[in-house]
Amino acid sequence: MIEARHLSKRYGDFTAVDDVSFRLEPGQTLALIGPSGCGKTTTLKMANRLIRPTAGSVWVNGKDVAEQPLEDMRRRMGYVIQDIGLFPHYTVAQNVGVVPRLLRWAPARIRQRVGELLEQLGLPPGQFLEKYPHQLSGGQQQRVGIARALAADPPIILMDEPFGALDPLTRQQARRDFREVEALKNKTIIMVTHDIEEAFEMASLIGLLKGGRMQQLGPPEALLLEPANGFVREFLAEKAGQLELQSITLASLFPRLRQEEPVGAPILELAPHTPLLYAIHHLAKEGRHTWGGTQLSGSRRYFQLDELFHLFRQTLAPWSN
Ligand SMILES: Nc1ncnc2c1ncn2[C@@H]1O[C@H](COP(=O)(O)OP(=O)(O)O)[C@@H](O)[C@H]1O
Ligand SMILES: [Mg+2]
Repeated sequence: MIEARHLSKRYGDFTAVDDVSFRLEPGQTLALIGPSGCGKTTTLKMANRLIRPTAGSVWVNGKDVAEQPLEDMRRRMGYVIQDIGLFPHYTVAQNVGVVPRLLRWAPARIRQRVGELLEQLGLPPGQFLEKYPHQLSGGQQQRVGIARALAADPPIILMDEPFGALDPLTRQQARRDFREVEALKNKTIIMVTHDIEEAFEMASLIGLLKGGRMQQLGPPEALLLEPANGFVREFLAEKAGQLELQSITLASLFPRLRQEEPVGAPILELAPHTPLLYAIHHLAKEGRHTWGGTQLSGSRRYFQLDELFHLFRQTLAPWSN
C-alpha cells in the first residue's frame, strides 16, 4: 500500500539516505531504527515529500506520491513531528483542527471530529479544548500531537520519535495507551525511533539503518534470530534477552490458557499483545483472588497468577521440567 523504491538523499557530496526501499501492507507498522544521524527522519520526510528525494520514489496505492496534489497527501498521511511540535499560540482545539481547516471542512464537522479524538485519547474536551500547549504535561501534549495527525482520518500515519520527548515512565504508559486508541487501529504506520525496545513493542516490521543504508528489514524476530550482519547483532545484543522475554505475549500463549470462565472471581482484562511479564506484574498488583482474561479473534481465555508463573518458568527453561 505504501512503498519506498530506492530512496536516496544527498546533501552535496554527503549521502544522508542511500538506496532505501520498503513496502508496507495496510495495517502494518514499520519502525525505522538506528543510531542518531543514520537517516531515519530524512527517510520519513521523503515519504510525504517534506523532503524531496535525490533519487527514488514513494508509491501509495499504486500512485507516485510526487505526482499527487499536496492536498491529497495531507488526506492520506498524518505526520507526528519529532519533539511533538504543537503550535504554541494555538489552543488544543486549533492544533488538532489544523489539517481539517486546510481541507476546508465545515466548522461544525471540525468541532465534532476534534472532540471525538480528544475523548478517545483520554483528554476530556470540556477540560482541554481551550488550553494552550504550555498548560499541558508532556504526555498530554504528545496525545494532542497524535490527535492532530489523526484529525483527517488518514490511512497512513508517519511518526517521528513520537514518545521521544517523554520521561521513561510516561513513555511506557503512553506506548501502551497508544495501542488502545480506536482511531489508530487499522492504520498503516511508519514510525521512527532510536529505541529498540519501543520498535519491538510496536512494530510488525523493523528497518535498521546505519549511515543511510538499510542493514536489515524484516519482522522483529528475524532481526533477533537471524541478524543480517554484525552491526544488527551488536545493535540488538544489549537488549536481546529482554526483547525475547517481551516477545512472549498472552497471544503467543493463548492455546495454553483456560477456556472456562471462572465463576464469581473479579477479572482483570488484558490485551492479547500484553507480554507475559507485564501480565504477571498487573495480576500481582491485584492480588491472588483476581483472574486475568483476554480475548483474541472472538475467543476468550482466562488465567491466574500461579498459572502465569508456571508458564513463565516453562518458557524460560523449556529443557528442564
Ligand atoms: N539539510 C541538511 N543538510 C545537510 N545534512 C543534513 C541535512 N539534514 C540532515 N542532514 C544529515 O543527514 C544525516 C541524517 O539525518 P537524519 O535523517 O535527521 O538522522 P536521524 O533522524 O536518523 O537522526 C545526518 O548526518 C544529518 O546531519
Ligand atoms: Mg531524527
